[in-house]
Parts: sequence; structure tokens; C-alpha cells
Amino acid sequence: MANYVLELKHVSKSFPGVKVLNDVHFELKPGEIHALMGENGAGKSTFIKIITGVHQPNSGEILIDGKPAEIRTPLDAQALGIAAIYQHVTCFPDISVAENIFMGHEKTVLPL
Ligand SMILES: Nc1ncnc2c1ncn2[C@@H]1O[C@H](COP(=O)(O)OP(=O)(O)OP(=O)(O)O)[C@@H](O)[C@H]1O
Ligand SMILES: [Mg+2]
Repeated sequence: MANYVLELKHVSKSFPGVKVLNDVHFELKPGEIHALMGENGAGKSTFIKIITGVHQPNSGEILIDGKPAEIRTPLDAQALGIAAIYQHVTCFPDISVAENIFMGHEKTVLPL
């Protein structure tokens, strides 16, 4: 078994005019809880968006269970067991609580 469930190596990310992540290294062992702290605009959300496939890094490597992973979309991240729970959750007011909770994970049956 790999030492780390998630590893970031030399990850950098820029937006026009701003280098947000500069050669970031991160290691997460099974069962660990990390707090990501920094001032407004430090790059916390950008970091989360990179590991959840919302943004692509400009350089660097992401490993899942010790293997290089391509996280191109949030669906890729979901398939790898990575999920983000956002600060400002938005609900769809016209559907049920259950439908809101299972949005995107609805039980479906393929037609025969
Ligand atoms: N999609 C984007 N396009 C351009 N610039 C962006 C984009 N997303 C973030 N930035 C810029 O990147 C920097 C880091 O932003 P980020 O949202 O990651 O910071 P944060 O640490 O989450 O801040 P906060 O504490 O306010 O949530 C900021 O300068 C922000 O303006
Ligand atoms: Mg943020």
C-alpha cells in the first residue's frame, strides 16, 4: 500500500497576472486531517479546485495512492474518491431535500 492517498509535487498554477500556487508540495496519509490556512487570495480554493479537477495545474504532478493521476474534470475527481464541500452551498429550492443531496448521483436504471 502506498504511504500517501494523495500527493502533489511541484504544482504551480497561474492566472493572468498572478502566480497563485508556486511549486506546491502536499502529502496526505490515510486518516489524516489537514487544515489549509492562508489570507484571502492565498490560493486555498485554487488548490482545492486543482485536486477536484475544476482547474488544471500549469505544471507539477498529482499522485493518488502513489500512482500519477490525471484529474481533468470534477467527474474524474469523483471517480478517484475526491469530493469538495463548498463554503457557500447552494440548494435547488424547487426539488426535494433527497434530490438535492443526490444531485448528480441519482440512482438510474439503464433500459434493457
Ligand atoms: N478563475 C480565476 N481567474 C483569475 N484569477 C483567479 C481565478 N481564481 C482565483 N483567482 C485569483 O487567484 C488568487 C487566489 O485565489 P483563491 O480563490 O485560490 O484564494 P483563497 O485562498 O481561496 O482566498 P479566500 O480566502 O478569499 O477564499 C487570487 O488573487 C484570485 O483573484
Ligand atoms: Mg477560497
